[in-house]
Amino acid sequence: MQDIRFGGDYNPEQWPEEIWLEDVRLMREAGVNLVSLGVFNWGIIEPAPGEYDWSGLDAIVELLHANGIGVNMGTPTSSPPAWLRKAHPEIRLVDAEGRTLAGGSRHGVCPSSPAYAEACASIVDKIAERYGKHPAVKLWHIHNEYGWANVECYCEASATAFQGWLAEKYGDVDRLNEAWGTAFWGLVYRSFDQVEAPAAAPPGVNPALRLDWKRFSNDEHVRNYRMQREVIARHSEAPATTNFMIPNCEGMDYRRWAGTVDVVSNNHYLIAERPDHQIELSMSADLTRAVANGPWMVMEHSTSAVNWQPRNIAKTTGELRRNSLAHVARGADGLMFFQWRASRAGAEKFHSAMLPHGGTDTEVWRDVAALGNDLKKLSAVVGADVAADVAVLWDWESWWALELEWRPSVDLKYRERVEAYYAALWREHVTVDFAHPEADLSGYRLVVAPSSYVLTDAASKNLRGYVENGGHLVVSYFSGIVDEHDTVHPGAHPGALRETLGLWIEEFHPLHERESLSLDSGAAGRIWSEHVRLDGAEAVARFASGPDAGRPALTRHDLGRGTAWYAATALDAGTGLDELLATAMDAAGVERPQGVPDGVEVVRRGAHRFLINHTGQDVQVPGAGVDALDGTAYDGRVPVRAGGVVVLADA
Ligand code: GLA
Repeated sequence: MQDIRFGGDYNPEQWPEEIWLEDVRLMREAGVNLVSLGVFNWGIIEPAPGEYDWSGLDAIVELLHANGIGVNMGTPTSSPPAWLRKAHPEIRLVDAEGRTLAGGSRHGVCPSSPAYAEACASIVDKIAERYGKHPAVKLWHIHNEYGWANVECYCEASATAFQGWLAEKYGDVDRLNEAWGTAFWGLVYRSFDQVEAPAAAPPGVNPALRLDWKRFSNDEHVRNYRMQREVIARHSEAPATTNFMIPNCEGMDYRRWAGTVDVVSNNHYLIAERPDHQIELSMSADLTRAVANGPWMVMEHSTSAVNWQPRNIAKTTGELRRNSLAHVARGADGLMFFQWRASRAGAEKFHSAMLPHGGTDTEVWRDVAALGNDLKKLSAVVGADVAADVAVLWDWESWWALELEWRPSVDLKYRERVEAYYAALWREHVTVDFAHPEADLSGYRLVVAPSSYVLTDAASKNLRGYVENGGHLVVSYFSGIVDEHDTVHPGAHPGALRETLGLWIEEFHPLHERESLSLDSGAAGRIWSEHVRLDGAEAVARFASGPDAGRPALTRHDLGRGTAWYAATALDAGTGLDELLATAMDAAGVERPQGVPDGVEVVRRGAHRFLINHTGQDVQVPGAGVDALDGTAYDGRVPVRAGGVVVLADA
């Protein structure tokens, strides 16, 4: 049985060697079994072009190995050395306003730069050659957070690479003109080299150009990853990963990364000031599981506060444990932190760590050591699936497209609706999977589409087939409007869902800022209203006020063996969203855990049930089984202390 991987980023180059011995002793004490090394050490191991100093890295790899701690070997390419920027000024990142960004930080490089790619290939080859067969190296950590600060570059090399990418995608420039609808404003191209990168420009830039630019920018990072992966494969058989930022890096479409990594790993930091930040954590974990199509690992999270939010709120007592076990509940087979020992110098000295500035006589350290101990008892969950019979549709392309300029309302925000629906399900203790609109949905009793603005023809057919074959689909407004080029589907809105929903929209009526309206069911709506015309569907509730008073607001359409539901306004928790979802879940036969107190997260993973109490009260949760951490057997009611977690193994 494999243990849950446990550890963090380790940066021994920031410390004198005598500290290393203490580090390794404490790592053993806490049960650390994996550390990420060398994520930012390029300037140290290659002090000048072609000159290498392996002394520190060699010594630390041996020390860790001798102590039974595995190495997740980094490639340091997200922080190129100063000499490389000086020798090749053309690698510097250019932003959309045409400013060339200075050095002194990390990431400020153009992802399309040939000189940068060549330097990456060279240093990665040297590292892989030296450590590729070392038994301590269990995993490769390629780069760090692709797209963190350099998703897009607007230099000449990037523009040229974009033209090549378009030529490969479309073959013929007329196909591009057709796909992009360039007859509009006569923005026709006669050759690929006439296409410019969408840098700062007058308003109304062709949205299809912007979408392809985003795809291209994502793909340039994938290209760098693949190149590094191939170099490593020449020297090593160990698996490789790169740390994703799901879902908080809007510029990366992680669906386009499918199949690139051997292990999906993710970095997640609480948005600390959000009162419901534990729900956002769950959403990130569920979405990461969808990208991985199974188990995955947390590559970075924090023991307490970060240092880069406006107000860096420290975790409260028990929160480190709740956060960590919530990730495990939702599919994580590894829990790593940024970072092992708090840095004294540099930009991140106010960031929490496994070993804080205050040392071992601290709550953080005690919690870290206790967590390491707990994880050893949870090896049985490694590889197990998470059970869900509800799916929420997610597509980075809808996110991108919905938030381009000149939409019907600035209040149309992709994550706003997804999070509203996700949170409502979370509060009902319903575990969901995320799924792409073109994925096989037949395993789900209920599918929810909170914000599917882009739906391809294939997705449209898929959703229709899902309902006809007995599925239940809940759709929120402004979904199914355009195809993958941001072109409106033919005929009335929502073209991709008209037949499935049994209705059409005569006109959108976005609301004023902070305006709300009521429904005759007692529900309330925000943001949106529209003139719904029924064509097969029935009205479940009608608008009682606002621009569409008297017209359908919530509808239901029985189609084949299934049912499609539609909400024509923004419902929220407490104003109708829970009722809509409860009605759909009842109709779909979705079973919800009964008798679970509010604020308690319940997730089944394989033969274990995780009960996570986010409230300040001791609670009891119905259930039976054996506490996997302390061996207590329960039959009927399981006590979960205020802020505590119980992991229950099936008896
Ligand atoms: C990111 C980076 C880390 C570190 C943390 C701090 O996730 O990958 O190197 O900067 O943020 O939260």
